[in-house]
Amino acid sequence: MVKCRICGSELLPFISFGQMPIANGFLRESSFADEFFFELAVAFCTRCQMTQLLHPVEQERLFHENYAFYSSTSVRMAEHFERHAQAVHKHLSGRKDPFVLEIGSNDGILLRHFSVAGVRHLGIEPSANVAEVARNAGVQTVSEFFTEQLAVDILRQHGEADAILAANVMCHIPYLHDVFSGVKTLLAKNGLFVFEDPYMGAILEKTSYDQIYDEHAYYFSLHSIQYLSRKHGLEVVDVEALSVHGGSMRYTLSHDGEVARSEAVDALEAAEIHQQMHRAESYDSLRCRIEHSRNNLIETVSELRDQGKQIVGYGATSKSTTVINYCGFTSKEIEYISDTTPIKQGKFSPGAHIPILSYGRFLEKYPDVALLFAWNHSDEIMAKEKGFRDAGGRWLTYIPEVRIFS
Ligand code: SAH
Ligand code: TYD
Repeated sequence: MVKCRICGSELLPFISFGQMPIANGFLRESSFADEFFFELAVAFCTRCQMTQLLHPVEQERLFHENYAFYSSTSVRMAEHFERHAQAVHKHLSGRKDPFVLEIGSNDGILLRHFSVAGVRHLGIEPSANVAEVARNAGVQTVSEFFTEQLAVDILRQHGEADAILAANVMCHIPYLHDVFSGVKTLLAKNGLFVFEDPYMGAILEKTSYDQIYDEHAYYFSLHSIQYLSRKHGLEVVDVEALSVHGGSMRYTLSHDGEVARSEAVDALEAAEIHQQMHRAESYDSLRCRIEHSRNNLIETVSELRDQGKQIVGYGATSKSTTVINYCGFTSKEIEYISDTTPIKQGKFSPGAHIPILSYGRFLEKYPDVALLFAWNHSDEIMAKEKGFRDAGGRWLTYIPEVRIFS
């Protein structure tokens, strides 16, 4: 019996995807024989309502000097974080020499705006290659995992933080109690802790099961975050639904009782009950929809191949690793995957070993069908791929359901 990492209760496993490779573990042929696999299985906790991986992978395997995800590959995400930086900056105006800390600052996509504005800041980023890009952009960065011990060291060196920010990283950290203790230690009395992650409500709504992979140790709901916050003397005082990454939620926390709670928190509490997010049956029903989605996708791809259509993947996302391996696709079905990230190009996809080629290759000779693995960047991609459509190319997507469109 595996216990909930947040509240210690017995977990309710609801799906296993079987053996999976590291989602961002793009590799060369020479490493095929040593590839690491683990069981990707998910469970729901009926007590604190935290959905979580049953067997999280140790963080050093995921985040290191060859980490393949660079935040700044999406123009829309760069704009998203610029707006966020402006809002935080405005909130801090009037404070004397404010200090902003970011956990999981990657290539500096968010903190670079504080650096340019001359605001005291520090990024905590364990993946050394992306941390180096941030430093080169003028962002103060420490290449370590955030822990309570590190928070104590930072407090001694820099003083309290007026804002602690985190995006798409809190859900990556299995030892969340230690992280929340660190935040409690470091946050100024009137400071804010603001983080955003893919939202469990959106996964249930869209059957976006490809959000499930090794890096995502948790799938947050407001309820689960409130449970965790209370354990550490923190309080969720605001929430904001975001469209990024296929449906995310931004949570704003303060020390308990320090900031008035917004009505948006009450509204989301009610919405989660309405969506039945507290009920185990909702997760069983998600498993059924996931299985149905997989069968549809396998069938559609098989029909297209029978018609002699060339299918290539668009965007070698971490999410695609779950879909490809769960559906059992190989380079027989998906000839290659096009991706703009230099570190991924010339390598092979985790598990299925489908070649990753440059975006230039896609433009050079359009395929018949592009399987949209980066569906969360759909607006940005559709806006720039008019040429593909004009050439008769068709898109294949599987979120929220399997569909071919021009
Ligand atoms: N915030 C960026 C990056 C998200 S990817 C964005 O939203 O685009 C997650 C990042 O968090 C990776 O760069 C990873 O190296 C980093 N990370 C993972 N575990 C961490 C931890 N325990 N402490 C700090 N950063 C961590
Ligand atoms: P993303 O969906 O942001 O993340 P995750 O890895 O968390 O699933 O990854 C986007 C990937 O898609 C990244 O490797 C860059 C690539 N990409 C393109 O190739 N072209 C594009 O136009 C965009 C927006 C992304």
